[in-house]
Amino acid sequence: MAKILVTGGLGFIGSHTVVELQNKGFEVVIIDNLSNSLISVLEGITAITGKKPEFENFDLKNKQGLKEFFERHNNIDGVIHFAASKAVGESVNEPLLYYENNINTLVYLLQEYKNRYIANFIFSSSCTVYGQADTLPITEEAPVKPALSPYGNTKQIGEEILKDVCHVNPQFNVVSLRYFNPIGAHESSQIGELPLGVPQNLVPFITQTAIGKRNELSVFGNDYPTHDGTCIRDYIHVVDLAKAHVIALERLLDKQNKKDFEIFNLGTGTGSSVLEVIKSFERVSGEKLNYKFAQRRAGDVVSVYADTKKANLELGWKSKLTLDDAMRSAWKWEQKLSKL
Ligand code: WQD
Repeated sequence: MAKILVTGGLGFIGSHTVVELQNKGFEVVIIDNLSNSLISVLEGITAITGKKPEFENFDLKNKQGLKEFFERHNNIDGVIHFAASKAVGESVNEPLLYYENNINTLVYLLQEYKNRYIANFIFSSSCTVYGQADTLPITEEAPVKPALSPYGNTKQIGEEILKDVCHVNPQFNVVSLRYFNPIGAHESSQIGELPLGVPQNLVPFITQTAIGKRNELSVFGNDYPTHDGTCIRDYIHVVDLAKAHVIALERLLDKQNKKDFEIFNLGTGTGSSVLEVIKSFERVSGEKLNYKFAQRRAGDVVSVYADTKKANLELGWKSKLTLDDAMRSAWKWEQKLSKL
């Protein structure tokens, strides 16, 4: 069976994707520098699938290390590239850290990989490239807007780099997956979201508030032009997202498919407001969440949700799990973490 390199494979989406790859019989090797994850995630993956993926702990900024990696692993059939810094707020304060970590590493990876006969490459991108889209739901044809953060800019630049590389390297087949808002955890509670430090994202902040690690959730703004005044996002269960990666990879490995660069939006196609996410959490957990309305957060867009027709029709993929499924799994995972 094909051997797949998963960079950032011990991260939130990466670890769930490794599980789905192993479930489909792929051989997996992970590169992760553990800057935003823990080695215990490797045990979690192994506990779920019964197969311990190969793992190499090094930083993709280490050009020599990467060269030696490909000399040791000269039979890789595809790469899923998750490894990147991803905190929007942090990227505003540390732009150079983000450009070095997200762009240089992509270039080094491509430099090592472009000499291979067939280069199948899946790029982890984000709906953040659309900014506040003029039309909702958002299709892949929606214009990429000037980035609202260096993090978002690194995703836009990453896609441009891949387009240019595909243009001159016909052996490259690339799929860029633009995620909306990944949430939830594997049903086994062996793996899930592991925000190190104060969570920036909504769902881990909700579950940490409910478990007592945080005092209160601040809802960043309830005066937006939406049905209940709070921002709308397309929250997709991380397991649905992981399964989409396996389907996209199988499409690349199928030699019949000759498109060199494709983009897919990965969302549920439904928007949910912050208050609706809170209500979903309270419904599935039976907990009353302690929250207050606070000032808007700089950089937030009002409403974002995906038009998923292209992924549904061309990938044959559709999200199956609901917001309640995701909140239930996130809560179960938080309760498990609190017992560790
Ligand atoms: C969701 C909503 C907040 C926290 C970002 C990146 C995106 C991807 C996911 C990496 C917003 C509100 C949040 C809180 C709140 N990242 N909120 N109180 O900003 O939509 O997307 O993370 O791949 O690329 O842009 O996600 O979870 O931070 O916020 O009210 O304590 O929840 O204002 O409306 P976001 P988020």
